[in-house]
Amino acid sequence: MTGRGVVVREAVGKDLPAIAEIEAATFSRPWSRATFTGLLDRSEAELLVASDGGSVVGYLVLLTGPGEAELANLAVSAGSRKRGIGKALLAAASEILLDKGIGCLYLAVRASNEKAIRLYERFGFSDVGTHRAYYQDPSEDARVLALELSGSPPSRGSSS
Ligand SMILES: CC(C)(COP(=O)(O)OP(=O)(O)OC[C@H]1O[C@@H](n2cnc3c(N)ncnc32)[C@H](O)[C@@H]1OP(=O)(O)O)[C@@H](O)C(=O)NCCC(=O)NCCS
Repeated sequence: MTGRGVVVREAVGKDLPAIAEIEAATFSRPWSRATFTGLLDRSEAELLVASDGGSVVGYLVLLTGPGEAELANLAVSAGSRKRGIGKALLAAASEILLDKGIGCLYLAVRASNEKAIRLYERFGFSDVGTHRAYYQDPSEDARVLALELSGSPPSRGSSS
């Protein structure tokens, strides 16, 4: 369960500084603020934020195409993790994709990122392959995971 004050909604321009701040604190090769700004105008992109009492504490980026979508970015600020916010962002993304009639969500994740992989697997994603040396800083393989969205997301509403 997320905290009582946490809501997931579409991002707006005033969310961008907080998103960029979490991004810079989280990743070794962060996306620029301009990249996030550009997403707001792209019809095939969805930028969602989790807001806790009015403060942005996490975000998720979807890039959609015919029949499938990529989960291109997901992060929760360090002080707000392990409260179900990542799962809530995934649930909201799944709802959007179901509404659009998109049946498959896939993503790439660093092979060593156990926390993220556990979240994805508990949500129902399964392994579909590996990209060798996909990441830099440091160089690392990506695991590619996919979620079929023909029904309800499996973890929605459960405690973990
Ligand atoms: C991966 C990431 C997004 C997960 O976000 P999160 O908000 O912590 O995820 P959740 O809280 O939904 O789930 C994570 C854990 O918290 C637990 N949890 C959920 N609600 C909880 C609660 N109320 N109290 C305690 N634990 C809870 C979940 O069971 C899960 O536990 P587990 O790791 O032991 O399986 C976050 O760790 C992060 O931003 N990491 C850095 C960026 C990153 O790796 N992004 C993914 C790139 S592909």
